[in-house]
Amino acid sequence: MSNTMDSGLQAYRASILHFTGEPTARGEGVEFFEDGLLVVENGRIKALDHAQILLPKLSEWSPSTAVVDLTGQFILPGFIDSHIHFPQLDIIGSYGEQLLDWLNNYTFPAELRFANADYAAQVAARFLTELLSAGTTTAMVYCTVHSESVEAFFSESQSRGTGMLAGKVLMDRNAPPALTDSAISGYEQSQALIDRWHNNGRQKYVVTPRFAPTSTAAQLQAAGKLLRENSGVYMQTHLSENLAEIEWVKSLFPERKHYLDVYEHYGLVGETCVFGHGIHLSEDEWQRLAATGSGIAFCPTSNLFLGSGLFDLATAKAHGVSVSLATDVGAGTNLCQLVSLNEAYKVSQLRGYPLHPYEGFYWLTLGNAKALQLESEIGNFAAGKYADFVVLDGSQIPVVDYRLSLCNELWEKLFLFMTLGDDRLIAQTYVAGQRC
Ligand code: GUN
Ligand code: ZN
Repeated sequence: MSNTMDSGLQAYRASILHFTGEPTARGEGVEFFEDGLLVVENGRIKALDHAQILLPKLSEWSPSTAVVDLTGQFILPGFIDSHIHFPQLDIIGSYGEQLLDWLNNYTFPAELRFANADYAAQVAARFLTELLSAGTTTAMVYCTVHSESVEAFFSESQSRGTGMLAGKVLMDRNAPPALTDSAISGYEQSQALIDRWHNNGRQKYVVTPRFAPTSTAAQLQAAGKLLRENSGVYMQTHLSENLAEIEWVKSLFPERKHYLDVYEHYGLVGETCVFGHGIHLSEDEWQRLAATGSGIAFCPTSNLFLGSGLFDLATAKAHGVSVSLATDVGAGTNLCQLVSLNEAYKVSQLRGYPLHPYEGFYWLTLGNAKALQLESEIGNFAAGKYADFVVLDGSQIPVVDYRLSLCNELWEKLFLFMTLGDDRLIAQTYVAGQRC
């Protein structure tokens, strides 16, 4: 075999975990190789198996490939975050407000700066560096109302080879004039960005009306038209996060049955639609979410930080609603999805649902991939998917290292990662087989 043919192969030896389906506590759907080998070819997964089985094949395929020895560490698929605002890196950890005051006092002033393309590019680069070092390789992202911010974000993602979903925020009322577009200009700018970025490399476009209070009926109508006219594009917005917000929506759209009905009326529900938060939902809203295949992004660090409320995971599951897990930075307080899992566990405990670690790690990987309709590309190590993965090293946090030494079972170790872990555990991150 020639060297040119060898050059596309890479191999990583470690404890390797991924999910083949929704896991049960008994371990169905969980695939774990204590001493595993992951083989990557030209940025995609070629093979995964026990090292003893795969090493002889590797030397047949490519005698010159040196195995990267990560023994003692864990390889998992890259984490996926279904709801995050890149410009809000500028205001993460801002004190004292709940949603509507937080938006007016911190968020909108910060988002004004993203009219400047150079500034947007600088924050996009910083944001992606932070996100990748926290172990997240794909995210559904809000930019600002400025097309420049979307251009900056996708350009940065493209140059790093990451697969991101993002969109220009649509706001034509109840925000500072310099942060608003109009129903027509928002529509045209979004369409131009869709034409340029949707399915350009690994990038995907998300139509992004911020939330019902900052869009007129005309703008929501235009957003629905964008969704209808561009098959495969996504939609993201916020839903029932805060009680004052819900009252405001009622007063702005008195003719609608409930908050979700505002979106449904304008064609903004469906399998490519992701609603942030969904904390205070009525029975009818749960049923409409389920019937339309729409998803909720559960954002535990944000919901706690803004005092928004305790998401009801058990009720979501009982209704068969698709739920993904997200950080919602800057209202969320950490970019690392291990921290989201920790807080999701505590919130679910308060709601009588002790989240199992298998379910938690499924969520960060294949579960979120399915929620974002991306499971044919990412989420586990099935052959042909992108080689987006993280290397977790328990020894990087001394108390985790110590506690791990007292555990026997895989699920116990994963539970430590999820309750004591953060970005310090992420030793390496790879995107399409390239180390970031
Ligand atoms: N609702 C409308 N905009 C926002 C936002 O930027 N963050 C959060 N958490 N909720 C919102
Ligand atoms: Zn949000």
